[in-house]
Amino acid sequence: MKITVVGAGAVGATCADNIARKELATELVLLDIKEGFAEGKAQDIMQTAALLNFDTRVTGSTNDYSKTANSDVVVVTSGIPRKPGMTREELIGTNANIVKTVCENILQYSPNAIFVIISNPMDTMTYLALKSTGIPKNRIIGMGGILDSARFKYQLTQHLNCSAADLNAVVIGGHGDTTMIPLIDKATWNSVPVKNFLTDAQKEQIVKDTMVGGATLTKLLGTSAWYAPGAAGAALVEAIVRDEKKLFTCCVALDGEYGQKDICLGVPVIIGKNGWEKIIDFQLTADEQKLFDESATAVRSMNAVLQ
Ligand code: LAC
Repeated sequence: MKITVVGAGAVGATCADNIARKELATELVLLDIKEGFAEGKAQDIMQTAALLNFDTRVTGSTNDYSKTANSDVVVVTSGIPRKPGMTREELIGTNANIVKTVCENILQYSPNAIFVIISNPMDTMTYLALKSTGIPKNRIIGMGGILDSARFKYQLTQHLNCSAADLNAVVIGGHGDTTMIPLIDKATWNSVPVKNFLTDAQKEQIVKDTMVGGATLTKLLGTSAWYAPGAAGAALVEAIVRDEKKLFTCCVALDGEYGQKDICLGVPVIIGKNGWEKIIDFQLTADEQKLFDESATAVRSMNAVLQ
């Protein structure tokens, strides 16, 4: 198994670190355009092998895509992160060109790779990856919903004083401050609806805090977050390489499912060795469907900027 992570910034390096620790591949390539940067990060990760007991061989490459040849899974984190006060959508001008070039270069050396897209604005970058590579839709997966669902669970733990592992809670829709939809009425605490334990005001607060989860961290850190985005990317890679058939919310191409088509948006999917293998119908309420349609309208207007 060979995995490539493009972009050795904080998110890419954290994702690579998680992949190495979990030994998801025999070979892991970290690639960046900044001279020596990926090589340095790769060596630093490799020097933890003796301490953490893993055998994944991590190497770095300065923009030499031949080193990524025959990768099974490629994680794309390239592009600029947002600064405090910026939305993910404001990154589109810069990141669209970068992501398009990266995907084309990767495809040249790894024609069968499954693409995991993390770059922002993630829904539009996933759509761009799909259109610019022309590869089967099941091999292009945007990561956002896994991260947003983990943040949703974090917010729930703060109010329920419970273990995150006992929660079942998902965020669908876009990966934007106003487009994501935490499905709080469907969330459970070991099968019991969380709404049984929360006031309406608490529910509202949890949804609001989840939606601005990334923006809150950007404000605190001065740049966007990396531990949870990196771990979410690695969880997605793990489900693919171990053929786990995990049910995750991911950004995938819709063709009529959830009432939308010609768009990539977050819905529950089964993840396995073929990428995303099946879309699961969560049977949204009329209110949830309305939010989903609004999310699609916002993401579609972002996608229009690509033309
Ligand atoms: C975030 C970025 C990675 O939500 O989109 O932190």
